[in-house]
Amino acid sequence: MGASGNNAKKQRIDKVLSHMGAGSRSDIRKQAKQGLITVNGIVVKDSGFHVDPYLDRVELNGEPILYREHIYLMMNKPPGVLSATEDKRDRTVLDLLKPAYAQFEPFPVGRLDKDTVGLLLLTNDGKLAHELLSPRKHVPKTYEAIVEGEVDATDVAAFAAGVELEDGYVTLPAQLSILGRERGSKVTSQISLTITEGKFHQVKRMFIAVGKKVTFLKRVSMGELKLDESLPLGACRELTAEELSLLGADGRET
Ligand code: URA
Repeated sequence: MGASGNNAKKQRIDKVLSHMGAGSRSDIRKQAKQGLITVNGIVVKDSGFHVDPYLDRVELNGEPILYREHIYLMMNKPPGVLSATEDKRDRTVLDLLKPAYAQFEPFPVGRLDKDTVGLLLLTNDGKLAHELLSPRKHVPKTYEAIVEGEVDATDVAAFAAGVELEDGYVTLPAQLSILGRERGSKVTSQISLTITEGKFHQVKRMFIAVGKKVTFLKRVSMGELKLDESLPLGACRELTAEELSLLGADGRET
């Protein structure tokens, strides 16, 4: 619906302003009392006043507040950080977000292992997250990995047919490509693998099923969305309009 937002519900102005990072509800109450908030040019001293955040012109201290509900972030996940919202022991990807992003309360879309790096989408759009994670949608995810041993055509054929994991589950067909090999004291293979499901530790378990071990794992794409390789590890940026449309999220309220 975007800026037209004609079905957006009215909300308390303190909720709208705190969602946009203007401070806590009590900060906003004080600012309202000081006459710093205007709605369509008129001073509003009641922080419980209701506005349509898409239609009403809200200003704080003379600065217009451009409201949006959702945020869509791409992170290049570093190793050693959990893709969870909280953890008692370890840092999570949320701990890496700037306050300006964190205030939207995004959460990671799906999980990468602690040691996996690469593309992680974070959003507060539950509907999009659900669509991307739905097992019925078979959203392809592509990983690049370093694998101990010589990955060969037999493995490519096995992955294309589906491999049986240690718990008896047979994976859906997956596309394995061999990108290169290194022959040091041990042979290692660089590979790319596209899977269309998301079982726990799936890539690592698929290689275990063919007697090999993943030593480095990086996600490079999810659906049509590709990792921006210029993002340093641990950094995050908002998706562009084009990237949002690749995910099918451009038609919803942002
Ligand atoms: N498969 C894995 O084994 N680990 C990940 O983090 C993602 C896919």
